Amino acid sequence: MTDRDQIGKIAAATQAVNENVKAGQIVGIGSGSTIVFAVKRIAERNKTENLNLICIPTSFQARQLIQDNGLILGSLETNPEIDIAIDGADEVDGDINLIKGGGGCLMQEKIIASCAKELFIIADNRKDSTTLGTTWTKGVPIEVLPMAYRPVQLKIEQIFGGEAKLRMASNKAGPVVTDNGNFLIDWIFDGVQDWHQVDSQLKGIPGVIETGLFLNMTKAAYFGSPDGKVIVRTK
Ligand code: A5P
Repeated sequence: MTDRDQIGKIAAATQAVNENVKAGQIVGIGSGSTIVFAVKRIAERNKTENLNLICIPTSFQARQLIQDNGLILGSLETNPEIDIAIDGADEVDGDINLIKGGGGCLMQEKIIASCAKELFIIADNRKDSTTLGTTWTKGVPIEVLPMAYRPVQLKIEQIFGGEAKLRMASNKAGPVVTDNGNFLIDWIFDGVQDWHQVDSQLKGIPGVIETGLFLNMTKAAYFGSPDGKVIVRTK
């Protein structure tokens, strides 16, 4: 990643944290490369403002980020209701619907987002799109129970067409295993889809645990560009 790409991520993350994180909140912390800059900004503010936040992680990575930055780590068990969640995305459409899970953490991310009163998305402006599938071409990530991956692949291809690929690890033989011990299928689709229908049909396939489609969940998306400007999209 070039510095220019990082500038957009930093700008979006900083502005989203400055505008939305308030003292005393329970904050869901997303996963990926952009959230790193948001957690850094939260930690910076925490030093001068004593924010007294409790942070709920969406992944192993997020848990480490929270602890490495000296923030208070919570869980859904202690804090089942979350004030705001901040997370990245792989693609954001004109209605701020999302594809997530490029980094493999979609299931906990979606649970945390569903428990949050408000979800804020931070991204560089390459993630900004009008129709899902335009800028993110690696497909919709779908978390599946390992013993069911093969029939789930077949059913997805029979119902929707396209190609349902088992995500393979790059530095280990075999498939990617999620933080939850499951496999991931990336469904490469053709054309424009009715995402609400697709999402509920996917979840109706036994063995599918969660999809990377985040529909009607986002309050606002912050897109940062290489010149440091940020565009905010709300519904
Ligand atoms: C993790 O599985 C994903 O949902 C990430 O939130 C998403 O891929 C965004 O990651 P980046 O911030 O690295 O683009």
